[in-house]
Amino acid sequence: MTTSQSDASVNPELVADAVVGLWQDPPVLPAKWLYDKRGSELFDEITRLPEYYPTRRETEILRGHSGDIARHSGARTMIELGSGTSEKTRLLLQAFSDRGGDFTYVPLDVSVEMLTSAAEQLAAEFPAITVEPLHADFGDPALSLAHHRGPRMAIFLGGTIGNLDTGERADFFRRITGALRPGDFFLLGADLIKDSGRLIAAYNDRAGVTADFNRNVIEVLRTGLAARGLYADDFDHIARWNPAEHRIEMWLRARRNVFAEFGTIERSWTLPKGAEILTEISTKFDLDTLHDELAVAGLHRHHTWTDQAGDFAVLLSQVAG
Ligand code: SAH
Ligand code: TRP
Repeated sequence: MTTSQSDASVNPELVADAVVGLWQDPPVLPAKWLYDKRGSELFDEITRLPEYYPTRRETEILRGHSGDIARHSGARTMIELGSGTSEKTRLLLQAFSDRGGDFTYVPLDVSVEMLTSAAEQLAAEFPAITVEPLHADFGDPALSLAHHRGPRMAIFLGGTIGNLDTGERADFFRRITGALRPGDFFLLGADLIKDSGRLIAAYNDRAGVTADFNRNVIEVLRTGLAARGLYADDFDHIARWNPAEHRIEMWLRARRNVFAEFGTIERSWTLPKGAEILTEISTKFDLDTLHDELAVAGLHRHHTWTDQAGDFAVLLSQVAG
């Protein structure tokens, strides 16, 4: 039996990304494919690992400053890009809820199961807030947020900005400016450059949860493209610090010669033993450089907060008038 491309279960975006990425040297896959249902659950587990400090640091900042953020922005709508479980966002929602008045929260994510369950829980927890989940790709050039009631604040937490490279970040910041209106706000959580030993440990935990998370993308490919000869167990998780680009890179290294046949696209793919696929980058920032990147896109610095240890930063900027 052959599977045709009109099969309702085939995701044309996955097909397109695989065809473009897997035949490059080295092969690459967009990071969003890490976040199917299982991937999202594994990421949630990562946020609680002892080595994975970013979530705790960002939570510390939001615990201390959500009231300030609500006051400075005066937002009536908060749109969260890549909201996941919205766990830390509860601190902001509580602060906006305490201020009173109409308030709408729009969590946006590609991971539809996580998005739906988080939205249901939040609606029950915050009856005064309107929760409007949006299943979308934050990289979509057509994304517009301007129809929501202003002032608007887009938020992008978790250091997810680090998953974009320099060019993608410039495009992303410009699109944020374009999707909002002058005077609106953008709240960004960013992980800062630090000792590479701590960084590597944060992306290669002892319990192996990050390894399972990374390898899960092979399972996404196997099921999504009807692959034979492609198994997650045939890959090792590698987390490597790239000092020139100040980023952690997540790779999957073939433990044997891989010969896979993708039923969906009727193509075969080989990867020699020892060769690697790039699945994710996690860039770490210097605050001044990040402020400059935002300013170039028309996002002007308003306030910046860091945790006590100086590991992580939350930046509030405002769309130029
Ligand atoms: N904001 C949460 C989750 C961060 S993990 C936190 O701070 O802990 C990154 C999140 O972004 C995941 O929920 C993932 O599903 C989502 N995501 C990744 N790529 C995306 C894309 N292109 N468009 C929308 N959501 C995306
Ligand atoms: N946004 C997260 C980060 O860069 C994503 C992440 C955490 C991740 N651990 C990972 C992505 C391991 C791939 C593999 O910190």
